[in-house]
Amino acid sequence: MSIESLFSPLRLGALQLPNRIIMAPLTRMRAGANGVPTPLNAKYYAQRASAGLIISEGTAVSPEAHGYPGDPGIYTAEQIAGWRVVTDAVHARRGRIIMQIAHNGRNSHSSLRPDGSVPVAPSAIVGNIPALTRDFQQVKAEIPRALEASEIPVIVGNFRQAALNAIGAGFDGVELQGANSHLIEQFLEDGTNTRTDNYGGSLENRSRFLLEIVGKVSGAIGADRFGVRLSPFGQYGGIHDSKPKELFTFVIKELSRHHLAYLHLIEARGSEIGLTDELHENAVNNAVLFRSVFNGPLLSAAASLAIEQKHADAIVFGRLFIANPDLVERIKGNQPLSASDRSTFYGGAEHGYTDYKTFGEAA
Ligand SMILES: Cc1cc2nc3c(=O)[nH]c(=O)nc-3n(C[C@H](O)[C@H](O)[C@H](O)COP(=O)(O)O)c2cc1C
Repeated sequence: MSIESLFSPLRLGALQLPNRIIMAPLTRMRAGANGVPTPLNAKYYAQRASAGLIISEGTAVSPEAHGYPGDPGIYTAEQIAGWRVVTDAVHARRGRIIMQIAHNGRNSHSSLRPDGSVPVAPSAIVGNIPALTRDFQQVKAEIPRALEASEIPVIVGNFRQAALNAIGAGFDGVELQGANSHLIEQFLEDGTNTRTDNYGGSLENRSRFLLEIVGKVSGAIGADRFGVRLSPFGQYGGIHDSKPKELFTFVIKELSRHHLAYLHLIEARGSEIGLTDELHENAVNNAVLFRSVFNGPLLSAAASLAIEQKHADAIVFGRLFIANPDLVERIKGNQPLSASDRSTFYGGAEHGYTDYKTFGEAA
């Protein structure tokens, strides 16, 4: 995409975007007690309302789905009311916001789980990134418990209800976290899924969990308000598959049948969570590889890389939106961009969250 084309409108299913500069889902670990969003969260999102679309931070679909201290939820009346303040604030500034719904699977920690039990996953295979405890301590990942087959429909139902709750809280739509080593990706890839039931083994079986969720959520809120995020070839969290091209070609073909609002692809970099900008060695360009496989709008989380490529319909920016609440205006005005401070990404309060200035304020 060229810089100019970022400023043309874009239709994503039922959503009409005034520009193609999208705010990435960004976990900031600043929700209030019990995963309830606060007025500070509302201020942060409202500051960024000129984005073509805001995708919220990953939000837990159930008490068992949390992955980090201070990550929000969307399964209690209190949480729905808290999110309503956020969506109202964004809409008051004429923005659009959708919620990313998530289950962290094995990347969680027992201290975050209601009964103190170890995290769940398709199979009892440990991840390679440290977990964060309730008290923000980094600790070794725990060996997860493999989900019983009977538990899987319950989790599928949690995603459906979370999507309905998000719409009830005033969100314009919902994105499914199928990327970055969360539970859905743990089911998809054979490095994390060695199940021998209907949810493991063949491509069809490993994709079943994702596709069941997609079917249920589409049925509940409408596919035209629903997008899916994937990270083909990603390696974050020790995730890997023996045949990623075949796997994601199959998955994306299947997703095409649902007529989703969009597919959101992360380019495989040294870190899909924005730790480095380096592409993996020999990395394929996901937007190029899968553009022809998907029949709807394609969002690319690849920042500078994607602006030069023609395969995406919109570009998704993460860290630049952390540091530049007025990113859209700055790109349009060719103004300098501020850099984000990694030390304030996760946890804390206003500092590094709502105190980044617009270009006008900083001048
Ligand atoms: C602080 C931080 C939190 C993130 N949280 C999420 C998240 O909740 N869900 C998700 O899908 N990706 C998450 N990511 C990944 C980003 O959405 C994005 O793909 C990544 O930062 C690369 O884009 P960038 O180079 O524009 O920052 C996070 C990244 C960062 C830096």
